[in-house]
Amino acid sequence: MIQSLAYLGITTPSYEQWATFGPDLLGLELAPRRDDGTVLLRMDDSAWRLALHPGERDDVAYIGWNVPDAKTARALADRLAEYGVQAHEAPPETAAARAVEGLLAFTDPFGLRHELSWGRDHRPATFRPGRPLSGFKTGEQGMGHIVLLVPDLAQADDFFSDALGFRLSDRIVIGGKMQIRFYHVNGRHHTLAIAEAPGVTGLQHLMLETNSLDDVGTALDLCERNDVPLALTLGRHVNDLMTSFYLHTPAAFQIEYGFGGIAVDDLSWESRTFDRFSIWGHHPTEPSKGLPPALITRAEQA
Ligand SMILES: [Fe+2]
Repeated sequence: MIQSLAYLGITTPSYEQWATFGPDLLGLELAPRRDDGTVLLRMDDSAWRLALHPGERDDVAYIGWNVPDAKTARALADRLAEYGVQAHEAPPETAAARAVEGLLAFTDPFGLRHELSWGRDHRPATFRPGRPLSGFKTGEQGMGHIVLLVPDLAQADDFFSDALGFRLSDRIVIGGKMQIRFYHVNGRHHTLAIAEAPGVTGLQHLMLETNSLDDVGTALDLCERNDVPLALTLGRHVNDLMTSFYLHTPAAFQIEYGFGGIAVDDLSWESRTFDRFSIWGHHPTEPSKGLPPALITRAEQA
C-alpha cells in the first residue's frame, strides 16, 4: 500500500528563484544545492521534500510516494501490470538522488511519472525553517496533498483507486459538470485529489499544512509585502475543513498554504458529496486572472 506523499520533483526555468522563495516566503529549509543548480527544499527531518530542477519549461518531473518496503512496491508493480502499466526499478544513482533506499518508477495513463519509494533518509532534529515558523504537519500524513488535472476522471479513478489503492474521501460536484474526487492513503483527509479538465493534464496545486494558524497568517502578510499574487483569498474548505489561502508560485502550479485539516478514520468515514469548495472565503483574486491556473504538463490540440 502507498502510505503517503513523500516528495515532489518539478523542472522549471525559475529554479533559481526558489532558493529564496522556498525559505523566505514558504518557510521551507534550503538543503545543500546540487551541482546542476537543483534546489532542494526541506519541510521536516526528511532529507528533502520538494525539488526544483533546471529545465526549459515548467513540468512535473516525478511524484514520489512512500511505501513500507521493496516487497510492497513489487506487489504494487504486479498489480499495475494488470492495468497495462509497467513499473521499473530505478538504478542506484536515482535512488541516491531521491535520498531513498530504492524505488520503482512508472508512468500513469496521463503521462505523469510516479515513484514508489522506500527507506527515505531521515535526520532527526535537524529541520530549521527558512523563517520563523512553528513547523509543518508531516509525519505519517506525508508532505501534504496534490491536486492533479486529467482529461478523463473515470479513467483516473479506476487507475488510482483500483490499481494503486487510493481510498475515496469525498467529492465536490459543481453545477452537475465540474467534479473533483478526493482520496486518502493515511489519516490526512486527502493526499491526492483529481479534477477533470477536458484535454488537459497537469498539477493544479500542492498543499502544505502548518502546525499553527499564525504560520498561515504570517505567510499571507509576506505575500502582501513581497507582491506574491494570491490565487484564492483566505477561506475554509467544506470537506477537509482546512483554513488556507492559495498563492501563485514561480513554476505555474499553486501552493495551498493551510492549517487545521481534519483526519479521516476508515472504520467510520462516510464518503460525502458537496456542491461547493468552501464554507467561506477562497475567492479568486483580480491579479490571478492573468496568471496560469495550473502547471500544464500536457494539452491536446483541439
Ligand atoms: Fe487543496
